[in-house]
Amino acid sequence: MRERQIPWWERGVIYQIYPRSFQDSNDDGIGDLAGIEARLDYVAALGVDAIWLSPIYPSPMADFGYDVADYCDIDPIFGDLEAFDRLIAAVHARGLKLLLDFVPNHTSDRHPWFIESRSSRDNPKRDWYIWRDPAPGGGVPNNWISDFGGSSWEWDEATGQYYLHAFLKEQPDLNWRNPEVRAAMSDVLHFWLGRGVDGFRIDVLWHIVKHQAFPDNPLNPDWTPDVTERDRLLQHFSTDQPEAHEISAEMRALAEDYGERLLVGEIFLPAERHARWYGTPERPQVHLPFNFHLIESPWDAAHLRAVIEDYEASLPGFGWPNWVIGSHDAPRIAARIGEAQARVAAMLLLTLRGTPTLYEGDELGIGHVTIPPERMRDPQHFRQPSLNIGRDRSRTPMPWDASPHAGFSTCEPWLPLNDDWPTRNVAAQERDPGSMLNFYRHLLALRRAHPALSVGSFTMEKAEGDVLSYVRQHEGERLRVLLNLGPEPVQPLTRQAESVRDVLASTLQARPYDGTLLPDEGLILSLAPEA
Ligand code: GLC
Repeated sequence: MRERQIPWWERGVIYQIYPRSFQDSNDDGIGDLAGIEARLDYVAALGVDAIWLSPIYPSPMADFGYDVADYCDIDPIFGDLEAFDRLIAAVHARGLKLLLDFVPNHTSDRHPWFIESRSSRDNPKRDWYIWRDPAPGGGVPNNWISDFGGSSWEWDEATGQYYLHAFLKEQPDLNWRNPEVRAAMSDVLHFWLGRGVDGFRIDVLWHIVKHQAFPDNPLNPDWTPDVTERDRLLQHFSTDQPEAHEISAEMRALAEDYGERLLVGEIFLPAERHARWYGTPERPQVHLPFNFHLIESPWDAAHLRAVIEDYEASLPGFGWPNWVIGSHDAPRIAARIGEAQARVAAMLLLTLRGTPTLYEGDELGIGHVTIPPERMRDPQHFRQPSLNIGRDRSRTPMPWDASPHAGFSTCEPWLPLNDDWPTRNVAAQERDPGSMLNFYRHLLALRRAHPALSVGSFTMEKAEGDVLSYVRQHEGERLRVLLNLGPEPVQPLTRQAESVRDVLASTLQARPYDGTLLPDEGLILSLAPEA
């Protein structure tokens, strides 16, 4: 039997760049493509393998680019297609890959397709979106709630029907049951794949098809008013429909025609339904259904152990895992669990079995950021202000150095910098051997040097209080990862026969292993081969 070639993304690490906040090159306080290009040496030196760019397409920016007005161009804020071509060439010249964000569920309400669709009931593009008559007694067609709160239905006075929007009313949902929509969106994928992109992160993939009869969604019995209004209902009929899996398989087949291209699908579902997005070996779907379980899990060893084991157990035999601890949608990991545990989280992310995705700025340990009310921008915040779920605080600009505006821009950035930017910035952390940045670089270098950490087998030890303990093994190399998630020193029960050769990394200061784990300490130990 021919040995399976390991594709780049199974060994690789993905780095998410939020383009508005990486580097400004034209003095408008907003990051852009030329800025990203200028910072590529930093990305390469970090030791990651691929960059995923959040959307860069023309957009009115109601949801900061997740409202696309033209899928095949670049917003002037970010540059133009020439700047994109230069960027992708520069990315490839450094041996890196480039993933774009594909936003198939909805367009902007300013997309020419929607402008046509809403122009009259008999417009040829009417059925490209989801239009419905009012309910028999009047009012919205069903009880569906937008992910940002409020009804999913928006009344269109001119044509006397409602249209569906799973997010903002400025983001009308496309009708993926219409073959013309599918063909148009396939053309979009061909456009970018032909331009050389190495794959896509696919936005809210599990949303793209709705139940044909549009029944009410059931009430969620566990909902309480302190969480988002979206969760009042279980999204049984508005998401995760069988036809969406079929489309995901079609996208995979299309990407496959271009060789080793990667599809990462944004999927928020419980483990077992999540795993169905891998498809089958005969009819594969996305390579990596994005796995948000670490973001959603309480930060303690018992929960994390269960999450990791359940996820591993849910994977189909051919399915490659992936992990993520931060994104432009989630609170900063260091804000959530503190800096000491953020180092433990970094070690966890980069030593679990599966492709890690690292979010820009987490490698600096950016934590809580104060956003004064007058500078808040996130539409999710404005729709439910009392919930404190605004995403601006994880979208603040990269602090590069201690010069004015942290070297991000020559003028005031679109969002404030992290409060501690004069000391927490790339240049300062490069000088400090103990910094979060140098810790990430060390972990990423180790991962590259020790295939056991990327493609090795994974064995979780049984429960041990606040400690997570697992072994990664590959071709005779055995590494043990010990993570103390608690505030007390502990003596983990490493097996008697196990002799530790070396400490490859510590979240604290490097030291010989003496059988003890300090509070907040994580270690990667190299073990002697098993007798
Ligand atoms: C995804 C994006 C998020 C966006 C939403 C609507 O969840 O990550 O930022 O608001 O989709 O497109």
